Amino acid sequence: METKIYRVAEWEKDKQAISDIGAAASVLRNGGLVAFPTETVYGLGADALNSEAVADIYRAKGRPSDNPIIIHIADVGTLNRLAAKIPDQARTLADAFWPGPLTMVLSKKPEVPDVTTGGLPTVAVRMPDHPVALELIRQAGCPVAAPSANLSGKPSPTRAIHVEEDMKGKIPVILAGGDCRVGIESTVVDLTGREPVILRPGLITAEEIGQVLGCGVGMDSAVLSEFDTNEDGPAPKAPGMKYRHYAPKAEMIVFKGPRGRVEEEIAKRKKREEALGHSVGVILFQETAFEEAAHNFFARLRELDASGVDRILAGAMDEENGKGFAVMDRMLKSAGYHVVRVE
Ligand code: TXA
Ligand code: MG
Repeated sequence: METKIYRVAEWEKDKQAISDIGAAASVLRNGGLVAFPTETVYGLGADALNSEAVADIYRAKGRPSDNPIIIHIADVGTLNRLAAKIPDQARTLADAFWPGPLTMVLSKKPEVPDVTTGGLPTVAVRMPDHPVALELIRQAGCPVAAPSANLSGKPSPTRAIHVEEDMKGKIPVILAGGDCRVGIESTVVDLTGREPVILRPGLITAEEIGQVLGCGVGMDSAVLSEFDTNEDGPAPKAPGMKYRHYAPKAEMIVFKGPRGRVEEEIAKRKKREEALGHSVGVILFQETAFEEAAHNFFARLRELDASGVDRILAGAMDEENGKGFAVMDRMLKSAGYHVVRVE
């Protein structure tokens, strides 16, 4: 399939880009797939209410069909078409954080097809904070189901070139905007239970959500268990399919401990691996540079993969901080939970 790539980074000043977004919107309306930028990562969109279009997303990504997809909207009113019940907490969070990197899980209306929600009785919805995404959704006139626009198992795409690498030849349109500002995926919060529960951490933290709602916010046990790894070895948890997320080709290790010691150990390990003939890449963000780490982490993984390294050594972020916790969730998944602790 021929893929049209429209450059829309300067779209506000560029008449051609505005008409290209219109062309992309009509592809969506007609059941086609369009990759587009959001503030978190690039999405691979389809009309959320068109089962066949959504099924094509799974095919293009090679994604298991029981993994539900987030629906993107451009105005809060569209929630009424998707959610059977809209709790007050959802309205409060929408007021506080939308448009922005927060996804809410709500009970779904029957109109939302099973293929979009992976057969679940719930639906995940967010309003992205990106002018191209919002314009695309508005012009399409339909809610847009969109997972990250990477091949399943590869790091999420945060630059247009990543989408081209993974999707060129597989989908009709890529809207190539600039680099994604946030760089890791949205926070997913489940509002269908007795208290809100974070299913996927992101830069909007449990603490911030709790403050806005004035209540406690839980963390899904599957997320917490990722942080519960053995000394110097992979996690005891059986690494199922979901752990294939974000995996670089290289074998990756995360070093945890006091920063000075982490740097020493990484340097030592690098020498040792190189003496054994391995090519080694290092990922070392400042421990509390959360936004910068989020912005660059996936791009760095792809860059190291492209450079052909077969070992990646990474320094842990401060996971006591909610934003650091979100970046660490991705680091640990990428490393297949291989953690080395240093004293
Ligand atoms: O930032 C983001 O959220 C990006 C951009 C494109 O918006 N999208 C994204 O989608 O990361 P995806 O499909 O890669 O991740 C969606 C996550 C998955 O972990 C999925 O299991 C969860 O949201 N999810 C979707 N619908 C759900 C539901 N009804 N209940 C529970 N989890 C759900
Ligand atoms: Mg994804």
